[in-house]
Amino acid sequence: MSSVYVINGPNLNLLGLRRPEVYGTTTLADVEDLCREEAGKLGLDLEFLQSNHEGQLVDWVQEAGARVAAGECVGAVLNAGAYTHTSIALHDAIEGASLPVVEVHISNVFAREEFRHPSFISPVARGVVVGFGVRGYVLALRGLVDDSGRA
Ligand code: DQA
Repeated sequence: MSSVYVINGPNLNLLGLRRPEVYGTTTLADVEDLCREEAGKLGLDLEFLQSNHEGQLVDWVQEAGARVAAGECVGAVLNAGAYTHTSIALHDAIEGASLPVVEVHISNVFAREEFRHPSFISPVARGVVVGFGVRGYVLALRGLVDDSGRA
């Protein structure tokens, strides 16, 4: 069975506790359940991951890219958290691994502080889902799979 990665960056382990007025009260474990249900419907195995460490995220992007190249994986949904706005390393990892990525943000980053507007991920992403709350992960999974036949 082919797999899909859902990779979460810094502070997303605090989902449900951190700024609930912005991110809601759903926990990351709840998001994993949502993703597992959707992946099941799409006939995919789910690798659901979170780290606060940039290098670990880079390692997972490279791992997912290698699995895509081996025909074992369709790509990744990535919420890189604040590294979205800072990480050239993640940009280069996605590009270098030729990993199909859908970038997700729970909040509408464009309606927030200006420092959240730029993204190093968007230029190397297949698509972006922003501002739909945690349901954005489900939309991103569907988009990734719909898009997976495209060259
Ligand atoms: C976020 C938006 C980022 O700006 C922020 O640093 C996060 C979460 C989101 O999902 O809305 O940690 O990626």
